[in-house]
Amino acid sequence: MRRPYIAGNWKMNMTPSKGAAFAAELAKAVKEAGVDCKIMIAPPFVTIPAVVEAVKGSNIIVAAQNMNDHTSGAYTGEVAPDMLKDLGVTTVILGHSERRSYYGESNEFINKKVKLALAEKMEVVLCVGETLEEREAGKLESVLSSQIVDGLKDVAAEEMKAITIAYEPVWAIGTGKTATPEDADAAHAFIRSVVKKMFNSDIAENLIIQYGGSVNASNAKALMAKENIDGALVGGASLSVEKFLPVLTFNK
Ligand code: PGA
Repeated sequence: MRRPYIAGNWKMNMTPSKGAAFAAELAKAVKEAGVDCKIMIAPPFVTIPAVVEAVKGSNIIVAAQNMNDHTSGAYTGEVAPDMLKDLGVTTVILGHSERRSYYGESNEFINKKVKLALAEKMEVVLCVGETLEEREAGKLESVLSSQIVDGLKDVAAEEMKAITIAYEPVWAIGTGKTATPEDADAAHAFIRSVVKKMFNSDIAENLIIQYGGSVNASNAKALMAKENIDGALVGGASLSVEKFLPVLTFNK
């Protein structure tokens, strides 16, 4: 049984004070609603400490949206994994399409960070997904395949329990266009088959695959009903309790 895993990627939104107030409100709402899925929120780095404090005692996991590929040293402006862990961060999102496209992150670079996060005993949400151009050119499977094979290169089978994959078609992120549940499910099934080939069927069957790209209150239920969709990585709709709670309670 794969336990639903729903995450909120705040991107570059929420100051520490706003983030703390919102996270406290969210923790209260989640408790009152009896949300039973695994819940994660990923604030910007500087907002993390206030949010960790605000969700203390709740079942909300706090993640980072990125981290550096080194443990320490002369990397001006960067953040190392042990700095995050020291704050109570257990999880890191890696390979988000915005990092790939705006900051030129390659599969090889993302793989370095995946391996470092695993070595640091952190959980990883590895984002993959094709652009519209790639989809229209019939490259969906080859793009996903290399993002997964290269992104998870040299990851050991026993480390895979710390990995979640988020399928986020780039054309669906922040655009209001969602993949149909059928299209998303097919991509997820393909991702599972790639992981099966790399590792084994047990690991593929247990892998949590989130869908991301304009997930909201009105489409969450239909997406989550699909066999291969085990969760959601939510951007815009994770920024208010009013919008995020209905996604978290998709099964209520
Ligand atoms: P969105 O973002 O829900 O605003 O489309 C999703 C994401 O980029 O993780």
